Amino acid sequence: MDPLDDLIEFLRFPSVSADSQFKSSVAACADWLTTRLRRAGLQVQRYETAGHPVVVARNEERPGRRTVLIYGHYDVQPPDPVDLWETPPFEPVVKGDKIFARGSTDNKGQILAHILGVESALQERGDLPVNLVLLVEGEEEIGSPNLEAFLKEHKLAWHADVVAISDTGMVGPGIPTFTYGLRGILCMELQMRGPSVDLHSGIFGGSVANPATVLSRILAKLHDESGRIAIPGFYDHVLPLEQWERELWAKLPYTEKAWLATTGSPRIFGEEGYTFLEQVWARPTAEVNGFGSGYQGEGPKTIVPSKATAKLSFRLVPAQDPSELRPVIMEFLQRQCPDSVEMEIVQQHSGKAYLVEPDSAFGKAAQKALAETFGRPVAFIREGGSIPITQSFKEILGIDTLLLGLALPDCKAHSPNENFAIENFHAGIRLNRELLEQIAVT
Ligand code: BES
Ligand code: MN
Repeated sequence: MDPLDDLIEFLRFPSVSADSQFKSSVAACADWLTTRLRRAGLQVQRYETAGHPVVVARNEERPGRRTVLIYGHYDVQPPDPVDLWETPPFEPVVKGDKIFARGSTDNKGQILAHILGVESALQERGDLPVNLVLLVEGEEEIGSPNLEAFLKEHKLAWHADVVAISDTGMVGPGIPTFTYGLRGILCMELQMRGPSVDLHSGIFGGSVANPATVLSRILAKLHDESGRIAIPGFYDHVLPLEQWERELWAKLPYTEKAWLATTGSPRIFGEEGYTFLEQVWARPTAEVNGFGSGYQGEGPKTIVPSKATAKLSFRLVPAQDPSELRPVIMEFLQRQCPDSVEMEIVQQHSGKAYLVEPDSAFGKAAQKALAETFGRPVAFIREGGSIPITQSFKEILGIDTLLLGLALPDCKAHSPNENFAIENFHAGIRLNRELLEQIAVT
């Protein structure tokens, strides 16, 4: 079977973890994965959790071999806004040298490259050079709420020497990329309540507070004029950028022009004193991810809305601790809120940033696999996205994670028209196979 046909089947499942409407599709996707992994010649178990299932595949554990934990996720982000997709998000299509579908890059294409690399090694040699625990979860995109408990309960990867993940980016086509840092995250939702129902804004407007206006004023206070976060204490533990990193990143083939072309934004913006890569890879942020209030339909409607909500996320950097920051942020928000409206803060997921030594023994093994596969020198980057379980692997299992991503800058992860370069899918299969060989001799 052409590897691409496998990927197309995998991408057809709308395995959106965030929306309960898709619960049965998430489960069906876990079933497909279970069957596929069995066909690859692994022992597979599908575990129920309080949320979506976890699928674990293993080969026969033999003493004297390295044990590798491969992690990935089969859940995807919601496809919205669906009308901006050129082709439907769950009807994968190959156009030119890319495949388009929600989850094609993040993370189905990349985890399938791991699986097919394993399968090809099994087919050719009848065995793997390592003990393998392959764990694919269905809740990464909602903050992995059940995964830490799962790891502790099942102790599946207790003897693993190292973790490997393909769920990050590449600097550009054909450039092997080693990601040695990720940002953390902290999410919450602000809910403002004013009048008990939407009111006539002529009869009542001016005499009661408008929750949309109050919320906007609060959100506007999150940053100062220079783009810095204005919450007292927010930067207290931020690990400063190292000079060697600034020099290394300045030499990478990124340009403001290409960055703007990828984003479609008119200009670079943000905290002063940092390049755009530094802003994204090594500085924390406060973002409004969603905002809602009042009438959203066509034409005017004269009301004072009853409610206003905003979804917020803070990206964190190494040494910032989400459990310490949460009360700091909440206190700030509560202090900004006048008593003319009521504010409720709904807590959502969080996770720490990650930073790893790229030149450790396993780091070197990963570098060799990357250089071998792509035939070019390896680029070292940090990234702005988050995979909080990497830091949990460090804290719970005591092991490092190798981040060998295959996402291109224009893959449109989390956006309409997400796509995966077919070339990277094939390279990923070879890379993951080579990685196991290199780890085996480390
Ligand atoms: N693959 C991403 C993480 C990522 C993106 C790493 C870009 C490096 C560069 C992952 O699937 C993801 O999207 N994670 C979420 C975090 C989660 C806790 C909701 C994210 O970063 O928003
Ligand atoms: Mn993602």
